[in-house]
Amino acid sequence: MRKKIVVGNWKMNNSVAESVQLATEVVEALGEGFSGCEVGIAPTYLALDATEKVIAGSEVQLVAQNCHYENDGAFTGEVSARMILAVGCSSVIIGHSERRQYFGETNATVNLRVKKALSEGLKVILCVGETLAERESGVMETVISSQVREGLEGISDISAIVIAYEPVWAIGTGKTASSAQAEEVHLFIRTLITELYGQSAAEKVRIQYGGSVKPSNAVELFAMPNIDGGLIGGAALNAEDFVAIVKAASL
Ligand code: PGA
Repeated sequence: MRKKIVVGNWKMNNSVAESVQLATEVVEALGEGFSGCEVGIAPTYLALDATEKVIAGSEVQLVAQNCHYENDGAFTGEVSARMILAVGCSSVIIGHSERRQYFGETNATVNLRVKKALSEGLKVILCVGETLAERESGVMETVISSQVREGLEGISDISAIVIAYEPVWAIGTGKTASSAQAEEVHLFIRTLITELYGQSAAEKVRIQYGGSVKPSNAVELFAMPNIDGGLIGGAALNAEDFVAIVKAASL
């Protein structure tokens, strides 16, 4: 039985003070000794350090929204895996569609980042997902398959990897994939993982769904056999909604 995992991706929202406030509310709303599923929050880099102090001792894990594939050097505006590890991150999101869409990330750079993060001891949430145009033109499976294959190229052990399926057309749009639509792609990804890593690894790997998850649709999505939790954007900016989604993954 896979333990579900719910992570709040705060994106470029919240100052340090606001992040501390939101993290405090999340910890309080979850309550002590929560163990229903794995929970993480991903504030802006600036707030990682301060947020870590708030969640220390709770079940909430600190997650970064990205990291670079070099340890240090002339990479203006970037942050390395070692840096996020040093402030207490246990995981990092890599290959989010906004990184691919606005910041030129490719499957090749995603792969470099995944490898670096793993080699430094971080767990990785590898994001994949098709655009509406790709879905409508019938290339969804080809796109997802290359994102998974190329993102994982050269990686022999995926035990520290979670895959997040996030259809681009459902992110921040209020349009959620139906639970059946999401399940279909999750099953496709798990079958692909079976092909690449064998049945035992495929049975263990967690595949999160992301894209307009809300308290009102979380229960149905998380009830699907191949949906192992969620990567939550908008709804994670409200502690009550986020914790309701976490609890939906803990049923
Ligand atoms: P959303 O974002 O929940 O606001 O759609 C999800 C994500 O981008 O991870």
